[in-house]
Amino acid sequence: MKKILFFSNNNNKIIEIKKIFNKFNLKILALNDLSITDEPKESGRTFEENAKIKSDFGFNKTGIPCFADDSGICIESLNWKPGVLSKRFLNNFKNNQACFENIIKSIKKNNKQNAYFKTSVSLTIKNNQNVIFNGKIDGRISKQARGRFGFGYDPIFIPKNYNKTLAELSTKEKNEISHRSIAVTKLINFLIN
Ligand code: IMP
Repeated sequence: MKKILFFSNNNNKIIEIKKIFNKFNLKILALNDLSITDEPKESGRTFEENAKIKSDFGFNKTGIPCFADDSGICIESLNWKPGVLSKRFLNNFKNNQACFENIIKSIKKNNKQNAYFKTSVSLTIKNNQNVIFNGKIDGRISKQARGRFGFGYDPIFIPKNYNKTLAELSTKEKNEISHRSIAVTKLINFLIN
């Protein structure tokens, strides 16, 4: 297996993804292994477009086959937003708790609790040749933020058929069901076959 680069500066994602790759005995490089700190502007309108922007950028910069993910949460009571703007939406509040309170208020007001996380992974193998793998996890917004694991919106997302939020699950438990692991497992199957 040749080298493959994961284009992300998000340490939480790098840990999650390295663990998934380890299970298959595959090694990946992350941006911090190569001391690359610049990132392209995520100007796409979809998760797929943004993932491609990042994997193309990583490939063009290093010449190493490169994959990137773009992900976010879509919340019914917010008209299925923030979607691709999930990171910016969270950063607009003074802290995560304030953002969670805003979302919880909206689910109570609209009486709609449904939500899902989506990840698109793009793998760029050659100049302008990329493949997309998608993963999605359905669930609902918790009426209370709970848990200390994970990152981002994990404390307010309860996966379908669960009672715990993603932040109450260990990384291993989250990786068994998450949007990111679904998309990355499809990528791994592509790589090993
Ligand atoms: P990006 O994929 O790096 O653009 O990040 C999108 C944003 O969506 C992250 O900064 C998180 O706030 C949120 N997000 C993406 N995946 C997850 C997840 O697995 N759990 C919680 N929040 C997530």
